[in-house]
Amino acid sequence: MTDVVLPIVDLDVFLSQPSDSPTVMAECKKTAEALITYGALLLHDSRVSEEDNGVFLDLMEDYFALPEEELRKDERPELGYQVGVTLENTEKPKCAVDEPCLDVIARLEPSERPLDITAHNPDPKCRFFWKMSDSPPYETQFPGLNAPNVVPQVSSVHDKWTPIMEKWGQSMRNAVENLGEMAALGLGLPRETFKEAGRYGPHLLAPTASDLVKYGQEDTILAGFHTDLNFLTIHGRSRYPGLNIWARNTGKRIPVRFPTEGRYLLVQAGKQLEHLSGGLIKAGFHEVVVNKATLEAVERRKALNRPLIRISSTFFWHLSSDYALAPIPSLQKRARAISTESVRPEVQTIYEPMKVGHQVQNELKHIALMA
Ligand SMILES: [Fe+2]
Repeated sequence: MTDVVLPIVDLDVFLSQPSDSPTVMAECKKTAEALITYGALLLHDSRVSEEDNGVFLDLMEDYFALPEEELRKDERPELGYQVGVTLENTEKPKCAVDEPCLDVIARLEPSERPLDITAHNPDPKCRFFWKMSDSPPYETQFPGLNAPNVVPQVSSVHDKWTPIMEKWGQSMRNAVENLGEMAALGLGLPRETFKEAGRYGPHLLAPTASDLVKYGQEDTILAGFHTDLNFLTIHGRSRYPGLNIWARNTGKRIPVRFPTEGRYLLVQAGKQLEHLSGGLIKAGFHEVVVNKATLEAVERRKALNRPLIRISSTFFWHLSSDYALAPIPSLQKRARAISTESVRPEVQTIYEPMKVGHQVQNELKHIALMA
């Protein structure tokens, strides 16, 4: 394990000054470098309220504490679980069944490896997908991934559900879209490059929930080692530690720690960004486990008489399903240069041109969410 602290990028700087000012450009460069080196960064955004995060986490804890038969009503397996709830033990960590991914683990020092996922057990986590997308003004080739949201019927959460999901989701969306603008500028691209490519993306507010009464043993895997299939993932502060990430250029396991005070979010690169950048930015591997810090948080939370459920307030930002995904030449060139200079040259991944919707369907097949 390591004490690496992730780079902190300040969105306030970007939003308060002209985008060609030296201070802003430096912050944008830092963003790009952080994504290239770590696949992740911490984002400071004063617009994001800790209170909104709290209200959201409370609602999620109350919802996931409901009886299973209540939650089942919100499942939509016929839509690949892309809206509504996914109950625990449905999603397999892709890595457990994927050769290149097991190879990534094998190349890590034993002390830096994730918890063993080869037993092929699906993750003991539930989650809810709440779409935060705008419908495209054109006929989409992928209507299945653009289906309407599910609002839980149970009266204790029904009325407040939509406003809370929308408020928190919009905060995440604004933050990640601005970060995308910073990343584009820092990579020498026009500011709007990524934001426009994801203008009609099927963005998802996607909280996950792990029952720490049932799965509270130390070293339990709540989400096995994997990368995300979307473009950028953004998280608010969780009430329980346990998220570990791996930075591509260090091979070290990094336990994610937020600064104790202030308005911070965690951003991680996903597969679509890896594809679009020709591998210059790699999708970041991560896992969620129960460790000593998680257990300490459980002890503290017990006094509050609340459901002991670990919520991760995750937002998946996607490129538009109909967007033609292919490496941007200038980034691909840089990726190749880095790879050639590297002491441990990586196997060259081929990023075939394809529609984003097809890339998503390919990924979902791997994790057993779509037949
Ligand atoms: Fe993930």
